[in-house]
Amino acid sequence: MTAGWEFQTAAAEETQVIAERLGGMLQAGDLLILSGGLGAGKTTFTQGLGRGLGVRSGIISPTFVLVRIHPNLPDGPRPGGPDLVHVDAYRLGSSGEVDDIDLENTLDSAVTVVEWGAGLAEHLAESRLEVELVRAVGAAHAGLEDGAEARLLRVTAVGPRWGGVDLSGLPCAADPASSDTEPMD
Ligand SMILES: Nc1ncnc2c1ncn2[C@@H]1O[C@H](COP(=O)(O)OP(=O)(O)O)[C@@H](O)[C@H]1O
Ligand SMILES: [Mg+2]
Repeated sequence: MTAGWEFQTAAAEETQVIAERLGGMLQAGDLLILSGGLGAGKTTFTQGLGRGLGVRSGIISPTFVLVRIHPNLPDGPRPGGPDLVHVDAYRLGSSGEVDDIDLENTLDSAVTVVEWGAGLAEHLAESRLEVELVRAVGAAHAGLEDGAEARLLRVTAVGPRWGGVDLSGLPCAADPASSDTEPMD
């Protein structure tokens, strides 16, 4: 199956909040493939995922390091949860080169995130989330704070893992009537 959602964010922190909520839902074995140009926000998004997964911080663009493993923190929000394996495929040219970095050892026990992975890393798992970050142009930036820029997050879910999973609620903080408030009984 394939399903898709689109979210608009107006600052890096908003992108991270969406990613953090998603990180709270992820399970060992999940694969995320991030695309979007340089500076689109792939690493920023991964930092939010790391917060939601409760893994060791310090997620950066691994320019000269292909793979970094961020272990799950026993005192984080998800003790005993999956580690985060953060891959940057920018300099890789083929899916065979992705295979050469031996992700198989950690794929089943961790959440694997591949920046620049579109067209290269899909074969790693039966199911995946594709996250495309797109810089908004023109009017979408009007009225934003310094340094904040609008982004479109396009999330596509592929495969049986995501059957019946609805991600439409991820950005719910923008709606004052939604889950920020205590439910009333
Ligand atoms: N709405 C937004 N979402 C994500 N990042 C944003 C947004 N607005 C501004 N930024 C900035 O854009 C930059 C994205 O950089 P980075 O995450 O390293 O991109 P990439 O990994 O895709 O090359 C960061 O400096 C971040 O603060
Ligand atoms: Mg990056």
